[in-house]
Amino acid sequence: MPHSKTTALSWHFPLFFTLILPIAAAFILFWLDPFQPVHFPDDAMSRSIVTTAPALNEQMRRGSEALAEGLVEGPEDLVYDAAEGVIYTGCKDGWIKRVTVKEPVANSTVESFVRTGGRPLGVALDRNGELIVADADKGLIKVTREKKLELLTDESEGLKFRITDGVDIADDGTIYFTDASYKYNLSEFMFDILEGNPYGRLLSYNPSTAHTALLASRLYFPNGVVVSPDQQSLIFCETVLMRCRKYYIKGPKRGTTEKFVDDMPGFPDNIRYDGDGHYWIGLGSAPTYVWELGRRYPIVRKAMAMMVKYVGRLNMEKNGGVVAVDLEGNLIAHYYDSAFSFITGGIKIGNHLYCGSVHYPFIIRLDLSKSPAIPTTKHV
Ligand SMILES: *[C@@H]1O[C@H](CO)[C@@H](O)[C@H](O)[C@H]1NC(C)=O
Ligand SMILES: *[C@@H]1O[C@H](CO)[C@@H](O)[C@H](O)[C@H]1NC(C)=O
Repeated sequence: MPHSKTTALSWHFPLFFTLILPIAAAFILFWLDPFQPVHFPDDAMSRSIVTTAPALNEQMRRGSEALAEGLVEGPEDLVYDAAEGVIYTGCKDGWIKRVTVKEPVANSTVESFVRTGGRPLGVALDRNGELIVADADKGLIKVTREKKLELLTDESEGLKFRITDGVDIADDGTIYFTDASYKYNLSEFMFDILEGNPYGRLLSYNPSTAHTALLASRLYFPNGVVVSPDQQSLIFCETVLMRCRKYYIKGPKRGTTEKFVDDMPGFPDNIRYDGDGHYWIGLGSAPTYVWELGRRYPIVRKAMAMMVKYVGRLNMEKNGGVVAVDLEGNLIAHYYDSAFSFITGGIKIGNHLYCGSVHYPFIIRLDLSKSPAIPTTKHV
């Protein structure tokens, strides 16, 4: 009898410490943690997400080149200064870089322009050719030609911006921008997405009066924003709900928001107009199976949040890329690659599409004429 008792103990001890204790601890942490995800709104749930554009290119990486490799860390948003022939981009290390594209691409040059001390995301050029920056950590900044930084605004109605994200400028000089979240900062953005509450805002800044106006609130991680070519409306991306919305700045519908694209095949980031009838929108990732579960069940998002908190990250991104959308919001083309994640946007210069990202140390350049999106039959 004593013999069998020893055996039982020697079996149960390891089992207890390697399996039962960690599982029990995980359960206790899970239930005690105050993080409380909520259901998404019904209007964002009643549709299928994954759709296919009329034209696809599923191997975006093939045929694309790395521009400014090793000289730009996480070039999040890009703006082209045609007069100077340079691309401005904001990097992870806080530097805004100026890239002069030369052929071959390896001969391009990169200049460190100015350092914001924060994380520059959206970039836009005003009428005087001065750079306006949506800096996630600092707020809305102007960089003068003398490379001086001026903080334009960092709060609205008593709430500080936590993730100043996208920016664009109308022909009349008004600056439109987004604060993706007033609750979480950029290093915590995943919790904003997983919590499912609308902490984002769409705002404007008038440079002649220095007035910041709140245009729309209760938005789900509003990210990129662009002024429509007719100057009547804004299109902005609500990353979490995988959709883009239209906000009228002029005309009889002024001040109202309506649907623009509801069926994005991924999480939209920046949006840019190409001057030729299309908006290009970066997709950080296609939705994954785990996200589809999380979208429906807040408790799954809580489990995902605990993974982020205690394990470090979720490996959830796949098939990053860009989509082209026409002025009515119809999907026209979808470029992506299983090897890409956190692609943030695309600007078109001539035949080339230049894409930024959150973490790659280069700008992706794709020759659209050599790598077309191929017409496809719609299979949802
Ligand atoms: C590119 O750079 C290399 C090395 O500096 C140089 O030899 C070559 O002439 C350049 N090519 C062009 C087209 O300028
Ligand atoms: C973001 O928020 C966390 C937690 O509040 C804080 O520790 C961190 O310093 C913040 N980061 C920035 C850049 O403000």
